[in-house]
Amino acid sequence: MTYKILQVQPISGCIGAEIYGVDLRQLDNKLLWEELKQAYLQYHVIAVRGQDLSPDDQTQAAEFFGQSCPYPFAKGMDEAHPYMTRIIKEPTERTNFGADWHSDTPYLQEPPSTTTLYAVETPPAGGDTLYANTEAAYQALSDTMKKMLEGLQGVFSASLKHKPGGNRKIHHARINTMAVQNSGEADRLESIHPIVRTHPLTGKKALYVSALHTLRFEGSTEKESRPLIQMLNDHCIEPQFTCRVRWQPGQFNIWDNRCTMHNAINDYHGHRREMRRLTVGSQKPQ
Ligand code: SIN
Repeated sequence: MTYKILQVQPISGCIGAEIYGVDLRQLDNKLLWEELKQAYLQYHVIAVRGQDLSPDDQTQAAEFFGQSCPYPFAKGMDEAHPYMTRIIKEPTERTNFGADWHSDTPYLQEPPSTTTLYAVETPPAGGDTLYANTEAAYQALSDTMKKMLEGLQGVFSASLKHKPGGNRKIHHARINTMAVQNSGEADRLESIHPIVRTHPLTGKKALYVSALHTLRFEGSTEKESRPLIQMLNDHCIEPQFTCRVRWQPGQFNIWDNRCTMHNAINDYHGHRREMRRLTVGSQKPQ
């Protein structure tokens, strides 16, 4: 793929690219947005460097990828941006938001296809985000395993029942400065989706499963399901399927939840990190 406008710097051999030389406030530059979508589909996560985006700018940029969606567990940042959430970890806090490998909100009937994250303030070092390419992970499975997974449905839950250190209520009680809400509702929020999903734009198959959110396979008990869920999770995050994205203020990441997982590394105690997050493009996984 060649790009006329974007300067594209792949981050690893499998997933992720840094993008330079663009200003995402140029909403009417058609070629820019076509190329950005191409890069997003090619690399699954793009880190657009050197932006200066207000919440309105971020919303307009994000909505090139779909309609804004609500996030059930954090209040919107203000009346004008009810679906945008502020992800903050203060120097005094120990727990962060988004740790543990996951694709965003798979417990919804129609999870967001795309997440956008804008860096307002970043620690001097650390606070990177890891990404995994679940299409490449699916491709690398044996034909026998691919056949076993055909037609298998997962039960996805918001409960965080298997999160190391406690369920969603316990976890939310520790993220003091984020405007969390609805923790008590989490156990009831469940959806059923295919464990192998097909990307509607590329036709490629990807694993859609995580130890964090997939409770069990439909029709099976947790005891029966968990070992295979854990194996698939661990397979997706093998180093050859991943990349590590470093942040700097003004960086805007856009990623495709249909073929990736991510994990926010919590290695910057004593420093502040503030991001603005907006998910878009609700879509039933097929
Ligand atoms: C998320 O899981 O959406 C947050 C990722 C991050 O803060 O790096």
